[in-house]
Amino acid sequence: MPFLTDVYTMGNTIDTFALGHYARVYEAIDSRTHQPCAFKVMRPEHLTEDGQPRWEAMAFINEADLLTRMSSSSHVVRLLDCGYISAVDENPRSGQIDSYGLNVEQFRQGAYRFAAQRWRPYLALELLPRIQNLLYLMKPNMPGTRWRLPTEEGLDLASQFAELLRQAHRQQIVYLDHKLEHVYWDGQVLRVIDWNSSRLLEAGSQTLTQQIATDVHNLCVGILYPIFTGLSPQKGTLVPQPAGQAEVDSRYNEINQLDFGAEPTLSSALQRLLQRGASRQIATVEQFISGLHGVAALFGWDTPNVPINPAMRTAREQLRAGLTKLRQGQDSIREARDMLREAAIMDDIGEDLESELRRLLGKINDMLNGRVIP
Ligand SMILES: Nc1ncnc2c1ncn2[C@@H]1O[C@H](COP(=O)(O)OP(=O)(O)O)[C@@H](O)[C@H]1O
Ligand SMILES: [Mg+2]
Repeated sequence: MPFLTDVYTMGNTIDTFALGHYARVYEAIDSRTHQPCAFKVMRPEHLTEDGQPRWEAMAFINEADLLTRMSSSSHVVRLLDCGYISAVDENPRSGQIDSYGLNVEQFRQGAYRFAAQRWRPYLALELLPRIQNLLYLMKPNMPGTRWRLPTEEGLDLASQFAELLRQAHRQQIVYLDHKLEHVYWDGQVLRVIDWNSSRLLEAGSQTLTQQIATDVHNLCVGILYPIFTGLSPQKGTLVPQPAGQAEVDSRYNEINQLDFGAEPTLSSALQRLLQRGASRQIATVEQFISGLHGVAALFGWDTPNVPINPAMRTAREQLRAGLTKLRQGQDSIREARDMLREAAIMDDIGEDLESELRRLLGKINDMLNGRVIP
């Protein structure tokens, strides 16, 4: 059996701003492909003494299976490898590895054998940039601040998420674990991680019908409300959501009323759509998509059944181009901040230069705190 360090070069933890219940996640490089990845390994506290895998271990197999079934969707994080490692330290730096690539069946067959040996399951996933994680981007760094996505981008994200759920539901898969820490957005393309609480259900069952409705509810409450208001659906500032299976099942159960008081300029048609989702009046993704089309038409989108007026189409194109420029501008400001920050901590630069760098950094940070979009 090869050594872990022969197959992966392990780097820093990347999950610290949004810790999960099941896993710790590290940056790593696969020595066989030289590809960077997110190495998601079961927390050692889920290892057992009785030789039986806990459901936390089985959740890794469930996730590998669902990622494989959903792999044709460009909105799902890509699975690169799965297997087991022997290291029992939380941060694995030594020991052995059994790597199965994309062979989920072998991964499943190893569950009991490796549980008995106290080896831990891992998944290697496509590495997504932290700066595109929506919780990381939108979480305020001081009290009283809040960002929301521009409606144009929010509608785009909503439509991509709905498309992803439509594809999942067609295969009897429900996502369920809707929260900003699981969503990556670069202004154009949605990517969704963490499918271990998601489920493959029996076709035609009552549970499937119910859980599909819950998926739509959770999308409206757990993703769309926060991106359009910058607030958490539990009322208050954005914070990481509790993880774990019981929490996934109960997190948004009680939330059937959305408060848009903080965001009065948000399109009232959009508020009504999200409120219908929150109060469980939307039973399927298809119904949600049709409601979304009604809202999108008000924002210059070409949608079925609504003739588009040329002025609106042009205005929307202009808006979109402007948002792209704005994102480039904000990226440049962040890069400038990082450069000055690095310079400011250099040794032997003298007091005058250092205080000038710090003055500029303060101004840049004020600018970033006042930025227009997350
Ligand atoms: N593919 C990835 N690329 C970058 N970061 C990731 C990736 N997968 C997970 N993470 C980070 O690790 C955190 C925990 O991962 P997650 O899959 O949610 O674990 P858990 O199943 O324990 O909830 C995420 O919120 C994210 O910050
Ligand atoms: Mg998670």
